[in-house]
Amino acid sequence: MMNNIPTFVKWAGGKKQLLSQFEPYFPMEINRYFEPFVGGGAVAFYIIKQYSPQEVNLSDSNEELVNAYNIIKDDVDSLIGVLGEYKKRHSREFYYKIRALRPNALSRLERAARFIYLNKTCYNGLYRVNAKGQFNVPMGSYKHPAILNEHELKEISRLLQNTSVETKQFYEIEDKAKRGDFVYFDPPYYPISKTSSFTAYTKETFLDQEQERLAKLYTELDRKGVNVMLSNSDSDFIKNLYSGYHINFVLASRMISCDAKGRGKLKELVVTNYLPAHQLQISAYPAPDSSNK
Ligand SMILES: C[S@@+](CC[C@H](N)C(=O)[O-])C[C@H]1O[C@@H](n2cnc3c(N)ncnc32)[C@H](O)[C@@H]1O
Repeated sequence: MMNNIPTFVKWAGGKKQLLSQFEPYFPMEINRYFEPFVGGGAVAFYIIKQYSPQEVNLSDSNEELVNAYNIIKDDVDSLIGVLGEYKKRHSREFYYKIRALRPNALSRLERAARFIYLNKTCYNGLYRVNAKGQFNVPMGSYKHPAILNEHELKEISRLLQNTSVETKQFYEIEDKAKRGDFVYFDPPYYPISKTSSFTAYTKETFLDQEQERLAKLYTELDRKGVNVMLSNSDSDFIKNLYSGYHINFVLASRMISCDAKGRGKLKELVVTNYLPAHQLQISAYPAPDSSNK
C-alpha cells in the first residue's frame, strides 16, 4: 500500500518514505481533512486512498505547485499531451528556454507543464526562486529524467476529484477547521544546524516567528476540538513549543550533509494532540490489580 502512493513532483521534505511510520499516529477515522503545507502530496494521497474522507482541503503557499494540482485535477489529458511534447524536445537548450518563460505570461496549462518539467529535469528537484520570484535552479544531470508518467498523473487526477487545492498561507485555515476534523501540518522544518537550513521553497522564509505562529494555531485548533498532527525536526526549540502535547518520534533517511555519505537516519518529531490509536489500545486494558491475588 505505502509503495503505490503516486507523486508528481520531487519535493524537499517529501513524506513518502515515512508513511508506514506515520500510520499509527493518524486518527482512527478521518471525515474532513486539511493539509495546509501539502507540498508533493504523499500524505494527502495516502489519506485519500486509505480513509476516503468526505471532504479534503489541500493548500500550499506555492502558487505554481497549486496550479499544477488543479490542472492535473481538471485537465490531465491536455497536460499529458504537453509534457509528452516537452519530453521529446528535452535538451539543455530547451530547459533554459522553458526556465526563462515567465509564468504570468502563460496559460494555466502551460504553467503546470513548465513547473512539472522543470521539477523533473532541474538539479535535485529543487524549487528555488530569486528575489524577483524567478525560478533559478540549474539543469540536473539526469540521463533519462522521468518527465512524463502518464499512469501516475491519471491516478492523481482521479484521487483529486473531490478535493479542493488552493494557494493559501497556513494560518488561513484557522476559521475553517471544526471539532472532529483532522489537520496535518508539515511545515518547512526548523533547522537543526546552521548548514542544514532549507526553508527556501518560496520567496518567503519560515523562521522562528512563523514556527511560533504555527504553534499558536495548533493550540487554537486543539482548543476547538480539532485533531492535529504535526511533523518537524527533533530540536529543542520545537519540543518546547509543543511540550503540552504527545511528542512521538520517527526515523527518516535524510541528506544531512552535501555528499552522499552524509545520508543517515535522523529522528524527526510527530506531535499529536490526541493519544495515537496503538497507545489508546494499550491504555484501554487496565494493569492487573495485584491486590486481588
Ligand atoms: C515540508 S514541505 C511539505 C512536504 C510534503 N508533506 C510532501 O510530502 O512533499 C513544506 C511546504 O510548505 C509550503 N509553505 C512554506 N511556507 C508556507 C506558508 N507560510 N503557508 C503555507 N505553505 C507554506 C512550501 O511551499 C512547501 O511545499
